Amino acid sequence: MNVSKFANRMTRTAALLGLACTLATAAAPAHALDIKLPQETSQLKASTLAGHQSASAWCVMCHSVDYINSQPPMPAAFWSAEVTKMVKVYGAPIPEDQIRLISEYLGAAYGNDPK
Ligand code: HEC
Repeated sequence: MNVSKFANRMTRTAALLGLACTLATAAAPAHALDIKLPQETSQLKASTLAGHQSASAWCVMCHSVDYINSQPPMPAAFWSAEVTKMVKVYGAPIPEDQIRLISEYLGAAYGNDPK
């Protein structure tokens, strides 16, 4: 390879590197996103059952508790399937042992199960 071919190749390489740097910079966010979500206004029905605390912690991570409040009266079995769906389908990180407690609470507070 003669000197001018080598110089040409180096120029091309430098240009490509420059382009890569420009693209990398363009892809990086200019500043952190600042998203303000509205305050949650609805609440879960009060209860002394352990599942109430648990539901208050786990069931507010992704959506409003209006999703729960707006369901028709349903027994614990329905809620168990619902909570399992949140875990298996939507990836809710709810510990296995909390599913029964939450379902019992929801069946009692939102269904006709004995309180
Ligand atoms: C990991 C996120 C996540 C968590 C945590 C979560 N949910 Fe959901 N939930 C969803 C998504 C996603 C939907 C579907 C939203 C849609 O269709 O608009 C949904 C929908 C619902 C619905 C509406 C009916 C349905 O099946 O689509 C109910 C009721 C519900 N969730 C109850 C709960 C309860 C009870 C808990 C706590 C045990 C919970 N969710 C926790 C993600 C979550």
